[in-house]
Amino acid sequence: MQKYEIAVIPGDGIGKEVVPEALKVLETLADIHGGLSFEWTPFPWSCDYYVQHGKMMPDDGIQTLQNFNAIFLGAVGNPQVVPDHISLWGLLINIRREMEQSINIRPARYFKGLQSPLVNPKDFDLIVVRENSEGEYSEVGGRIHKNEDEIAIQNAIFTRKGTERAMRYAFELAQKRRGHVTSATKSNGIVHSMPFWDGVFDEVKKDYSEVETASYHIDALAAFFVSRPQVFDVIVASNLFGDILTDIGGAIMGSIGIAPAANINVNGKYPSMFEPVHGSAPDIYGKGIANPVGQIWTAKMMLDHFGEEELGQHLLDAMESVIGEGIKTVDIGGAATTKEVTEALIQRLKSL
Ligand code: NAD
Ligand code: IPM
Ligand code: MN
Repeated sequence: MQKYEIAVIPGDGIGKEVVPEALKVLETLADIHGGLSFEWTPFPWSCDYYVQHGKMMPDDGIQTLQNFNAIFLGAVGNPQVVPDHISLWGLLINIRREMEQSINIRPARYFKGLQSPLVNPKDFDLIVVRENSEGEYSEVGGRIHKNEDEIAIQNAIFTRKGTERAMRYAFELAQKRRGHVTSATKSNGIVHSMPFWDGVFDEVKKDYSEVETASYHIDALAAFFVSRPQVFDVIVASNLFGDILTDIGGAIMGSIGIAPAANINVNGKYPSMFEPVHGSAPDIYGKGIANPVGQIWTAKMMLDHFGEEELGQHLLDAMESVIGEGIKTVDIGGAATTKEVTEALIQRLKSL
């Protein structure tokens, strides 16, 4: 029996609603499969935790997480109570950085039964490989002077190592898919980092001669995501460009409440972390209407990561079937609650 030990951090807002639902689904899969089991260890690290303890996680939190096969996270942020820069640097970004989760994989694809806002949503199936540790999200910068002389500075840091790592990951992924990588750039000389990004892309692609490539400025690329997402296979993007593109990826599927993600530690030193693209959605928290699909699809990405692809596919098929029947939450045009969607999915998994 294969046992997976998972650290569970529901976090804030709807993270606390959708994570327990996703765990129920995983438990159902484990029951059906028989050959695997999960051991969940919950951690209450969140903005509520901050209010009690003055920090988002304990000082030895990273060390504690190191003992798990993976981390399953909901969302972080309750800006009414704790400023975002404190909660995010203190928990989400802290884990991504300290655990060297340098790649963020975020798929988006046409989902049967979903109302996409696109005129022609059929058959798009793409994955954004987002550089997850540096770029525009560097810690270098600050605010200086006061009042009308106040200025804010943010330095983007692009290392050759980090840039190349993201690109190689994208090319290797494309080799297993449709053999095409698009680079998200802004190379028209305005942003210094991007001609560098292009140079690394040109070098890396020489090692993958069978993979076709394209390069688009991020503004045009964002528009193409809406007008013709079908042309994309794998897209490699910097931290901020990838962040923005993947909310669009969620939106063209029908809702950002569906979009899954995986923060991957590529050197095998630390566990990877699985958390959906969406945030804590304070505007709908407590109503029981959050879409659980993003968190559940994220659970599928965790199964894939463990090499349990067959089970992951089974889960995706069941999700598509339930949504196809119209059992869906308000954000995607349905009337079902979070729990009703999960319950229907569990029944479907049992019957398939
Ligand atoms: P958000 O993703 O939380 O919400 C954006 C919009 O999408 C809202 O209208 C929300 O109701 C809707 N939405 C999101 N997920 C949904 C779901 N599962 N079902 C139905 N509707 C859903 O983004 P935001 O409003 O910009 O940020 C809110 C908080 O979350 C902030 O504190 C932000 O920093 C944080 N955040 C955290 C993460 C993370 O932890 N990974 C990601 C994004 C934002
Ligand atoms: C995401 C989120 C985070 C990011 C925020 C909350 C720091 O938007 O995971 O997409 O920008 O990486
Ligand atoms: Mn985001």
